[in-house]
Amino acid sequence: MKEIRVGIIGTGVISHRHMKNYEKIPNVKVVAACDIDKAKLDAWCARYGVADAYTDYRELLARDDIDSVDVCVHNNLHAPLSIAVMKAGKHCFCEKPMAASYVDAKTMYEAWEKYSKPQGKEFGIQISSLYSGQTRLAKRMIENGELGHVYYARSIGHRRRGRPGLDMVDLSPDFYSAEFAGHGALFDMGIYHIAQLLFIMGLPTLKSVSGSVFTEIEQSEKLLAGRKFEVEELGLGFAKYEGGLTLDVMESWALHMDEVGDTFIAGSKGGLRFYREPARPMGPGGPGGGMPEGGLRFMTIQNGRNIDIDLMVGGNSMYEHAESPELKYYDENHAHWYAYLSGLIPERYPTEKIALETAKVSEGIFLSSKLGREVTADEIEELSTSTAVRRQETPWGIFEYDF
Ligand SMILES: NC(=O)c1ccc[n+]([C@@H]2O[C@H](COP(=O)([O-])OP(=O)(O)OC[C@H]3O[C@@H](n4cnc5c(N)ncnc54)[C@H](O)[C@@H]3O)[C@@H](O)[C@H]2O)c1
Repeated sequence: MKEIRVGIIGTGVISHRHMKNYEKIPNVKVVAACDIDKAKLDAWCARYGVADAYTDYRELLARDDIDSVDVCVHNNLHAPLSIAVMKAGKHCFCEKPMAASYVDAKTMYEAWEKYSKPQGKEFGIQISSLYSGQTRLAKRMIENGELGHVYYARSIGHRRRGRPGLDMVDLSPDFYSAEFAGHGALFDMGIYHIAQLLFIMGLPTLKSVSGSVFTEIEQSEKLLAGRKFEVEELGLGFAKYEGGLTLDVMESWALHMDEVGDTFIAGSKGGLRFYREPARPMGPGGPGGGMPEGGLRFMTIQNGRNIDIDLMVGGNSMYEHAESPELKYYDENHAHWYAYLSGLIPERYPTEKIALETAKVSEGIFLSSKLGREVTADEIEELSTSTAVRRQETPWGIFEYDF
């Protein structure tokens, strides 16, 4: 199988998770990395035996022996660096969220269509929640009509106190900076939960959104160390989609509440509840027991009675894989991306489109909160403003991003 040569831009926390995935993909070789933090970059390259280290992304992109580039920098650098990758004619795999504003995500999508898609180059976004038995099964059940008309979905993401960079001190304070993150909980974690539901429900078309965002919870001055917490810790939304579907959203990095319930999808014939991680212990439900991926409970009516069916998603994946070995390419982001680039699967999940639709509803929640009223999908298109970095001061000079 042809070797795929990869470059990584940004050697921070998440890049290590990418490397763990690469260890399992035989035909992928990471040949170069880039970071503006030279000490971090050198330590990273030494750890993974990567020979070529760059502090200027343009040098990495100028190489003609690199096929695909992972963009692992903070949200507001996703658009400038991903578009640079596209202009360099390489496949681009960008971390989530696609961007911190809808218009930046849209600019990325359009840049792909203009610069690299015509050359057969792909553009994808890391959305790990799409790659699980839970997602596959829920999607299949809806496509088979087992839920009937789907009219109500709820996207829940809840941390009681888990503001990255503040409460979660191993993560960078850039997570709560307006300049680099742009947004907090709703974009950062909402992408996993909202995108999963939109994908499962077949990417419905947004009509309107209302919502509120909050930054209310006490912040430790000691942990802030002079910095400002500039993003939302809680986002709440109520969105209407074509086809008579309503989606409500709650995404918190911090909320003084112990239990807030689960994500669900409800239809005229049945409903699905998505157990949040950590998976609810389900007893000896199959090989390994338990439901390590997060589970699904189907609620319907049989013989005139209410009936609940635990679908044992994780425990049953061994049987599913035995019958369909290609499912190993649908269990993890990178495995999926490179299986597609290597021609091992005929199509890939359209993560760039799913992430763009997710950015639209998330941005709608912000705009509605700001304007104090419901906003239409057309208004989101018109009013979304860019938060992307266009000029970055680094120890190696000023990078002016042209996009
Ligand atoms: N940390 C996580 O658990 C996690 C999980 C999933 C997704 N993500 C996403 O990954 C992205 C990065 O998060 P992180 O935790 O790895 O951040 P991080 O701060 O640990 O790493 C970001 C790196 O980007 C580098 N950088 C900044 N500008 C650069 C430039 N112009 N060229 C090259 N390098 C540059 C920084 O020096 C830093 O080393 C974010 O968008 C985040 O949402 C993070």
